[in-house]
Amino acid sequence: MKILANDGISQKGISLLEKNGFDVITTNVAQEQLGHFINKNEVMGLLVRSATKVNKDLIDACPNLKLVGRGGVGMDNIDVEYAHKKGIQVINTPSASSLSVAELVFAHLYGGVRFLYDANRNMPLEGDSKFKQLKKSYGNGKELAGKTLGIIGFGRIGQAVAKLALGAGMKVVFFDPLLDDVSLTLSFFDGQSVTFHLKKTDKEELLRISDFITVHVPAQKNYVLGKNEFDLMKDGVGIINAARGGVIDEVALVDALESDKVSFAGMDVYESEPRPEIRILMHPKISLTPHIGGATNEAQDRIGIELAEQIISHFK
Ligand SMILES: NC(=O)c1ccc[n+]([C@@H]2O[C@H](COP(=O)([O-])OP(=O)(O)OC[C@H]3O[C@@H](n4cnc5c(N)ncnc54)[C@H](O)[C@@H]3O)[C@@H](O)[C@H]2O)c1
Repeated sequence: MKILANDGISQKGISLLEKNGFDVITTNVAQEQLGHFINKNEVMGLLVRSATKVNKDLIDACPNLKLVGRGGVGMDNIDVEYAHKKGIQVINTPSASSLSVAELVFAHLYGGVRFLYDANRNMPLEGDSKFKQLKKSYGNGKELAGKTLGIIGFGRIGQAVAKLALGAGMKVVFFDPLLDDVSLTLSFFDGQSVTFHLKKTDKEELLRISDFITVHVPAQKNYVLGKNEFDLMKDGVGIINAARGGVIDEVALVDALESDKVSFAGMDVYESEPRPEIRILMHPKISLTPHIGGATNEAQDRIGIELAEQIISHFK
């Protein structure tokens, strides 16, 4: 049985599928030739990431396709409803990259409190001529331990961030309209585990008491953090967005950075992706990454294995 992984799949995923008798094709077929390729090669399962579009036209063109798999979370590139109507099973891997995103949040947080985003810009330019001045300007960093992290959106990634924060000695507060009480178990390398019981905090209270705020909500109609929310925050708060462009008002964020309401921001996602605003890219108080939150080797392996396991159980 043939599976086409059109946007790639990890070697671990390929090996697991092959061990179970599947033939995995990893050729990247152009969108307009995809229907023809699938029919000609009798492909039963199509795996995609975000690049390949599984739209109505493709579904109509491939009457023998039985399964579509999305490596990752968002299904924006797949017409899920139409696929279901045509009897095609649609699968994804919603939790495979949660820890990777959570670790990137902490990369931005640890980098933020010690000005790494700025030091890495200035050391190559002035590290030899102005070492002492730079040492002085970056010499009033902060520790994360003992500070309060406010997490808005407490699903898979929000909870993964909370576990890292608790492990780092932070106090965690969260707001999520769907959750009141959450128990989180932290497991350690030697088999020990500790369970924390957290209660929801009202959003305004979270905004007032948090030293750092990170957002982990799905795409929204309205901003989750805009001018009104920034106004309520502590002076000098740090803000992280590794969720979606458009959940934070970037104009309000830049204003808040310029008035020192916000001391730094860490951004992995942007309102105008894939061309973030130049004011964001050039801002000296923003730590920047190009939407790589879920992109680690470990997440790729988990995605490949999770897809393979679901395919095996679907076709057996
Ligand atoms: N940076 C990356 O590369 C990357 C990778 C994977 C996922 N993401 C993004 O991370 C976000 C979270 O993913 P997840 O897997 O944790 O999703 P999830 O569905 O597990 O959790 C989202 C939570 O947000 C809550 N929520 C919704 N609207 C809210 C609001 N207005 N205020 C507070 N809470 C709200 C929901 O109740 C839910 O519990 C998504 O936007 C996803 O696209 C980014």
